[in-house]
Amino acid sequence: MAVTMQETMSAIRKYAPNFVPKAGIILGSGLGSVADQLTNPITIPYQAIPGINTGSVAGHASLLVMGYLQDVPVVCLKGRLHVYEGASYESIRTFVRMVKNLGASTLIVTGAAGSMRAEMGPGEIMMINDHINFQPGNPLVGPNDESIGPRFVSLENAYDDELRNKVLEVAKKLSIPIHEGVYLSLLGPSFETPAEIRAYRSLGADAVGMSVVPEVIIARHCGMKVTGLVAITNLAVGMSSEKVTHEGTLRYGEQASRNMIKIINGFVKEIGRGY
Ligand code: HPA
Repeated sequence: MAVTMQETMSAIRKYAPNFVPKAGIILGSGLGSVADQLTNPITIPYQAIPGINTGSVAGHASLLVMGYLQDVPVVCLKGRLHVYEGASYESIRTFVRMVKNLGASTLIVTGAAGSMRAEMGPGEIMMINDHINFQPGNPLVGPNDESIGPRFVSLENAYDDELRNKVLEVAKKLSIPIHEGVYLSLLGPSFETPAEIRAYRSLGADAVGMSVVPEVIIARHCGMKVTGLVAITNLAVGMSSEKVTHEGTLRYGEQASRNMIKIINGFVKEIGRGY
């Protein structure tokens, strides 16, 4: 039987009856250490949350962590639900909407991606300014609940201009180089062929990955503001002599996460100030 949002929320509220985060942060492969920075953490395994399936990819811890970053209340989702693992769009909707229902109005989405620009290398960070959805579905397919959001949601400015400018400002202040570009989302789990990468480049995409987009569509539908940062873990298939592997993704994700943590800290501080 389908799990209701009420069941999901009451399971979370048992752990944290009054915690109201200002922002949610979804942490992808190799980026889980962001959650380790939280003070006064309350940790809930996804298994304890009805409606949330357990992720199984190495590097994904599958924990919801509520706590304070720069004295600002946030909720981190350490490990995400991937469609390629068999996660349903219903479970991904619950995953994102529970963040909104906790009280967060901003969603920071992170992930790993392959770069399709030679000058944007492993260990660097790209801020997403737009996306191309090449996953075979849309997470909003099915009956629409108008109390959550409109049937036809606009994805113009999906990666909020104001938040993007804030992130750029923060990165500049910290002297951390940051790229901006278009993220193309694929189902996976196989990596791309060199011919596919050539095709995606010609379509105007700058980075390729297997996540982010379903979450962003769901977040925009329920009215959250979104900012997206990806750790470049490799040059896309066919662009380098180095083979693209999941292990490499984790290694370079970890490297990029050191800078990512600094940017997220600075950005969350701005959220705390009301920017
Ligand atoms: N392709 C798809 N997803 C990825 C890649 C890639 O090259 N690197 C990290 N995630």
